[in-house]
Amino acid sequence: MQISLKKIYSGKVRDLYEIDDKRMLMVATDRLSAFDVILDDPIPRKGEILTQISNFWFNKLSHIMPNHFTGDSVFDVLPKEEAEAIQHRAVVCKRLTPVKIESIVRGYLTGSGLKDYKQTGTICGLALPEGLVEASKLPQPIFTPSSKAEVGDHDINISYEECERQIGAELAEQVKKAALALYTEAAEYALTKGIIICDTKFEFGLDEDGALTLMDEVLTPDSSRFWSVDTYQEGTNPPSFDKQFVRDWLENSGWNKQAPAPKVPADVIEKTVAKYQEALDLLTK
Ligand SMILES: Nc1ncnc2c1ncn2[C@@H]1O[C@H](COP(=O)(O)OP(=O)(O)OP(=O)(O)O)[C@@H](O)[C@H]1O
Ligand SMILES: [Mg+2]
Repeated sequence: MQISLKKIYSGKVRDLYEIDDKRMLMVATDRLSAFDVILDDPIPRKGEILTQISNFWFNKLSHIMPNHFTGDSVFDVLPKEEAEAIQHRAVVCKRLTPVKIESIVRGYLTGSGLKDYKQTGTICGLALPEGLVEASKLPQPIFTPSSKAEVGDHDINISYEECERQIGAELAEQVKKAALALYTEAAEYALTKGIIICDTKFEFGLDEDGALTLMDEVLTPDSSRFWSVDTYQEGTNPPSFDKQFVRDWLENSGWNKQAPAPKVPADVIEKTVAKYQEALDLLTK
């Protein structure tokens, strides 16, 4: 679908279009990135599903802090035909000044957190109890910021002190408090729906008055690790909700993880769509 606004950014998954100097249109595409490489084949409807999940959380968590919605609908800013075509995958949002760190919250131990813990007994400089294993629930959720990498690089976990140095102590404190509050409420709710939110990444921005505002996407399978309560087992690596089929298939294909990725078979793509849809259904029904 052609959009008659000026494209200002094309990310791994989302495209941004300028509406005016205060607002932009964020369109979630069906692109999937695995191991930081964007696959050639889109995952049909993925962008719509992600947008619905994100919108659900933005609304549910709006009592905790302001978010980037302007209140406009896509029909207010696009010709009718264009708006109809993208209405389920696009939102009108405020153009914020991004806070330049990744605000990660972890409730369970896995991934780069587990790797750090095994090497140092800490994550981002935070000491954790001894004897934790893969997928252990942490005594309480922890804020583990990482620095936003330049395109093509991997993000690096940083200590809270480094985070304070990068964005200022006052903002760091606000971000940490907000991220923990958002995660805690969301994780409690998701658990009642059979989903464990292992960890997640929030992005924040500052509005024109300097108010901290939740932006980007919120608590989707792309920005989080979702595990099913049914298959969760401490000591194992629980299958994650989203890219598991694609990742497993890619791992077994012998691919060297350099672009381009091999062509993913249709049944793997279908299973992936089904998992995204399942996450949306479980959370919102
Ligand atoms: N309200 C907002 N104001 C300004 N920037 C925003 C807002 N909401 C989201 N963004 C930015 O829009 C982009 C969304 O695109 P996408 O998530 O596909 O990018 P990405 O490949 O993850 O890129 P990045 O590495 O910059 O996050 C991100 O860079 C995100 O930080
Ligand atoms: Mg992103």
